[in-house]
Amino acid sequence: MENVPRLVVLVSGSGSNLQAILDACAEKTLPAAVVAVLSNKSDAYGLVRASRANVPTMVIAKTPDLDRRAYDAILAGYVASFRPDYVVLAGWMRILTSDFLNRFPNRVINLHPALPGAFPGTHAIERAYEAWQKGEINHTGVMVHLVPDEGVDDGPVLATQEISFEAGESLEAFEQRVHDAEHVVLVGTLKKILETK
Ligand code: GRF
Repeated sequence: MENVPRLVVLVSGSGSNLQAILDACAEKTLPAAVVAVLSNKSDAYGLVRASRANVPTMVIAKTPDLDRRAYDAILAGYVASFRPDYVVLAGWMRILTSDFLNRFPNRVINLHPALPGAFPGTHAIERAYEAWQKGEINHTGVMVHLVPDEGVDDGPVLATQEISFEAGESLEAFEQRVHDAEHVVLVGTLKKILETK
């Protein structure tokens, strides 16, 4: 493989953000290669997207006999075997413990569909939409950040983009706009990091 920065992407679901990364790598707008995609879910559509792009995939499911730390240590071992420069959490729906994170200091990047400190955890988009409907907020956003520790959707911010609500917009339409913004911000942030490395 060409001598470009190596990304390992972790997904749990659809993988539209993974797709944005794969497309940017293929178009050479992102000077990187996705060297592996790992998922904790065997039915994650992101695995299909990776295979279509000829990227190796692995499913590492957590089994009841493993506690979180044991699982994370195993996962870290597989991720490390692909020698990543960065590990990108693109819709990875598990909180990683230090047993994983300490293996990749300053190398784990997460995407959150809300602004720093806002709506951590799952269903952030729906929760922001509900808060807007109640008149509690008039904008939300997306952010990309480093994952230094077990804080949920928290860590040194690499990029943010605000998104305003539009009167009368459905949740579905709003959700689509958030995802479109995520794809742009995630790829743009990776590009910036890799070019200034
Ligand atoms: C994104 O909204 C991401 O911010 C969140 O999960 C979603 C994943 O979407 N953590 P996809 O799997 O990349 O389509």
